[in-house]
This record gives sequence, C-alpha cells and structure tokens, in this order.
Amino acid sequence: MATSTKNTAPLRVGLLGLGTVGQGVLRVLAQNGDEIERRLGRRIVVSHIAMRDPSAKRDCDLSGVTICATAAEVVAADVDVIAELIGGMQPAQNLVLDAIARGKPVITANKALIAEHGNEIFAAAQAKNVFVGFEAAVAGGIPIIKAVREGLSANRIDSLAGIINGTSNYILTQMSRRGIAFAEALAEAQKLGYAEADPTFDVEGIDAAHKLNILASLAFGTPLRFSAVATEGISQVLPQDIQLAQELGYRIKSLGIAKHASANGEDTVELRVHPTLVPVDHLLAKTDGALNAIRVHGNAVGQTVFVGKGAGGDATASAVIADLIDAARWLAAPAQAVPYLGFGSSALKEARALAFAEIESAYYLRLKVADEPGVLRAITSILADLDISVEAILQKEPGENEDATLAIITSQIPESRCNRALEKLSELTFVRAGWSRLRVEHFED
Ligand code: NDP
Ligand code: HSE
Repeated sequence: MATSTKNTAPLRVGLLGLGTVGQGVLRVLAQNGDEIERRLGRRIVVSHIAMRDPSAKRDCDLSGVTICATAAEVVAADVDVIAELIGGMQPAQNLVLDAIARGKPVITANKALIAEHGNEIFAAAQAKNVFVGFEAAVAGGIPIIKAVREGLSANRIDSLAGIINGTSNYILTQMSRRGIAFAEALAEAQKLGYAEADPTFDVEGIDAAHKLNILASLAFGTPLRFSAVATEGISQVLPQDIQLAQELGYRIKSLGIAKHASANGEDTVELRVHPTLVPVDHLLAKTDGALNAIRVHGNAVGQTVFVGKGAGGDATASAVIADLIDAARWLAAPAQAVPYLGFGSSALKEARALAFAEIESAYYLRLKVADEPGVLRAITSILADLDISVEAILQKEPGENEDATLAIITSQIPESRCNRALEKLSELTFVRAGWSRLRVEHFED
C-alpha cells in the first residue's frame, strides 16, 4: 500500500514477461541506473520476473533477479510495482487486476488491454486508489500520453493524427524505398522486434486502432470504446499505389485520425485508422521506418508534432521506466495522482463516432480502364454529375494490348458520394474490375 514517508530504499519491480520490451527495461536500467537514481532519489531494481520459457537465451543481465515459475507468483511477491509486459488479454488482464486488488501500482505497455478493458481497469484502480501507468502503450518511446493528458491540458484538443504503428510504417517505407514485397518487409519488421505477437494486429490497423482509442479518450475526455474506431489495414496497398501516389505528390502512410465532427447538428467524433495519402512535404510524410509521428492540434497552442521511435525494446523501455519513476513518486505522495485519462471519471462524456460512410475526405481513386478514346471524358463526366471535382489526374500509358491505369485525386466530398461514384464507374464496360480507393489528408499549420 502507498505510504507518504520518504523512502530511499530501492524500488522493487516485478516484471511480467521478458520479451522485446522486458529485456529492454533491464538493459536500460543497467545502462542508466545511476542517472535514474539521481532523478528519483532511489534506485530501481527488477527483483522478480516471470516468463514462459526461462531456458531461452536473453539479451540482458539477470543476475540477482528471482525467476518465478508463474506471473501470478510475481504479483504476489514482495515487490513495490508490477510491470505487465506480456501482451494480449489473458492472463495479462487478470494479473493487472490482481495487482490492483493488492494495492500495487501497475505499469503496462499493453495497448490492446487498455483499449478494450481500460474502463474496468481504471475503475478498479480508482476504487483502490492505485497508480496505473500506460505511457508505453502508445507510440513506444514518445511520451505522448503525458503530453496529451498533462502538457496540453489547457487546450480544447481539436484533432490529432499520426503514424502510430511502427510495423506498418516500416513496411510501407521499405516497399517504397527498396521496392521489396509486403511479406518481405513484414518479416524484417518481425525480426527487428517491432511487430505484435500476431502481426495481423499491425497490418490490419488493429494495433493503431487500440492506440487511437486511447489517445482520443485522453484528448476528448471520452470513455474508452475500441469498437468505435473505423479501421482499414495496409494489406490493400499495392506497390503501384505507392508509385502513383508519389507521382501525384503524396506518400502513403497508415494514419490514426481523431477529430471532433458534426453530423446533422449532432456533436460527434471521427476515429479512423487507414492508409492515407499525405502531401510529400508534410512532416508525417517524411516520418519513415519504425518511427512514429503524432500531430496534435490544440485551440490555444496550435499544431504540435511529436516524433520518435514507436517500437523496439530500448525505446519502449524508456516509456516503461518513466512510468516506474512516476509510480515511485506516487507511492511517496499518492494524493497527487493525475486522473488516468486526464479527466475525472465523472467528467468523461460519450460522443458517437462516425462510420466510414458518414465521413468526408478527399480521395485517391485508381482505375484500370480500356485504352479507348472517350474513356477519360466519360469518367470525368460521371464525377462532375455527382459534383466531385478532380484535383489531379494521372494516366499511365499501357503497353500493347494492355489496359491503361488512371489515378485521380478528388476534392473533399462525403464518402457516401465517393462510393456512389465508384458504383457508377464500375458499371461502365471499359472500367475493369479491381479499382482502389484511398483517403487523402491535408493538414493546416
Ligand atoms: P514479446 O512477445 O517479445 O514478449 C512477451 C513476453 O511475455 C515473453 O517474454 C514471454 O515469455 C512472456 N509471456 C508470455 N506469456 C506469459 C505468461 N503466461 N506468463 C509469463 N510470461 C509470459 O512481446 P513484446 O515485448 O514485444 O511486447 C510486450 C507488450 O508490450 C505487448 O503488450 C506489446 O503490445 C507492447 N509493446 C511492444 C512494443 C514493441 O516494440 N515490441 C512497443 C510498445 C508496446 P517467453 O519469452 O518465455 O516466451
Ligand atoms: N507492434 C507495435 C508497432 C509495437 O509496430 O507499432 C509498438 O506499439
């Protein structure tokens, strides 16, 4: 339980999981232990650890650490703080709730757990007045939770948008720079320790949706509601789209976007994750590899952009250890705790999130068409009839007996109208099956 007396004894950490992030925590503590002690006034030591296979080789020094047979044993051990670095739902959820029930502060890097069960975890923690830190759950080493929850707390946050999945960004970057195939780039990201245990979470936008859900709750003061995020992954993006987008002056990035919106007078929010065309000169377009970048717009501060390593052991350990330091400070002065989501639980307000069909955006359309006269005129006339302006168009000349490719950037229009246009275009005999439609985002400073 929390005490308010000054404590200079080492903070004893019980680590659940010793994978990419867990090993990073041990390495960074070994490397920066003195500096961390100078900041905190006490040393941080990992005293107990559990993992699945203790015989597996690890890239960190485990001397002096008690290896427990189960994670539950670590939670029950004589430790001051628990760090859950296992991932997934179970047993992580029960272990976190068990630690809270025992009055032990908990740190977790598990965005899936916070996004899907955060409301329940925070309610349990609040009832016991226990610290829960989750800085590592969003954007790896970038301290974005603290920035949005505390640093920008004087603002009404209008919107945020960013690259919040390092694996997807790594894949798109490598496909674009080196022309390698999607599967090869994903295998590299897995080898580098960026990907989730199930990489579908990365490439289908689920991991980014977890993180966006958390960021949106912090920004807008809404309860966590993962199912509200409209999500599309990057597996639909072809090398051809990356090339065409480049020629049109854009880079394709998987973005998480959250903004206030109004639908028929109702105050709503947009929460969406999807591959997005971003103008080449914007910082988000230039954020490559496993880097993450998040643009947050507040009504007082204007645009702020946070860039850094969004995945990887040591970078994520940086966020985990910052939370451990906060937990130690909280143990010394529990009354000063910041609300988990930055708003007191009674101040959280639901806001309906729009479905894709309700949003407005500019669009990139790629069509394969027969190489015949009059095709372009017929297509632009369908778009004009639906009041869709063409902002840019690119026609790739076909080889002999091949179809031509058209890439079009539209004006800002309701997505429902874009869908109607695609239906009508698909009915034309000279438009072949297999079009692509991606959203385009422009940002003001
Ligand atoms: P890993 O898969 O590399 O590590 C998971 C660890 O948990 C392993 O050491 C594994 O043991 C252990 N483990 C699994 N099941 C159990 C269990 N039942 N009891 C005890 N230990 C168990 O995952 P990461 O380190 O990559 O990720 C951990 C968490 O951090 C996840 O929530 C992830 O989403 C999040 N995260 C990851 C980032 C990254 O860059 N990798 C960045 C930010 C957040 P063993 O090693 O023996 O198999
Ligand atoms: N798999 C995640 C990513 C890890 O690639 O961003 C960091 O949360």
